[in-house]
Amino acid sequence: MALMADLQTQMKQAVADAAVEQIKDGMVLGLGSGSTAALMIKALGAKLASGALKDIIGVTTSFQGEVLAAELNIPLLSLNAVDRIDLAIDGADEVDPGFQLIKGGGACHVQEKLVAARAERFVVVVDSTKLVDRLNLEFLLPVEVLPGAWRQVRQQLAALGGKAELRMAERKAGPVVTDQGNLVLDVAINGGISDPAALELMVNNIPGVLENGLFVDLVDEVLVGEITGGKAGVRSLQKRLS
Ligand code: 5RP
Repeated sequence: MALMADLQTQMKQAVADAAVEQIKDGMVLGLGSGSTAALMIKALGAKLASGALKDIIGVTTSFQGEVLAAELNIPLLSLNAVDRIDLAIDGADEVDPGFQLIKGGGACHVQEKLVAARAERFVVVVDSTKLVDRLNLEFLLPVEVLPGAWRQVRQQLAALGGKAELRMAERKAGPVVTDQGNLVLDVAINGGISDPAALELMVNNIPGVLENGLFVDLVDEVLVGEITGGKAGVRSLQKRLS
């Protein structure tokens, strides 16, 4: 078990380092959330500290990123204060063969989607366990909801074939409260998600829903960490231009 965790960390570190190689001086960067994105932010901080990179502005997607960037002296601006985002780098919970994602394992998908949608390029960093044939057979779909509406939204999700549970916090009594002060429903769609684009719209159309964790047609490149011959390497999956 510890060996598995160690291999996964090695894969995450490999993709985090590969993503940071794409950062150029002067870029405005979207900084994702989760453990893989955190490794990327740390690698970026090290390059800024050594002078290997300069004139970077970060736009974070969570309090997690904000705290980390402050510790590492990475200059930050808010989404409202920047005129562009050159490159956003973030993790994912599931990636399907069409480059559609489920995100929100860290309950940060509202800001993550805003940043990914704004970015010129969106690069996803995952270990190979995140690649799936169909979304939502394993990982539940996170849906951020207004606190006063969670039971009503749960009912509406059931009408779409979704079984939803309120995400509960660890080391805090009660539910997870997001960076925006909302709650999260984790949803299993019967049979998994066959049409991510249609479901994304249907879920977001339910009154009381802020955003769901389906990221549709946003990804430019997926960097996948893999172990081959006992060593961590990186495979790049490039989205084909249509
Ligand atoms: C947070 C996210 C994360 O990017 C996602 O959960 C992946 O996290 P990790 O890199 O720790 O596996 O969407 O809301």
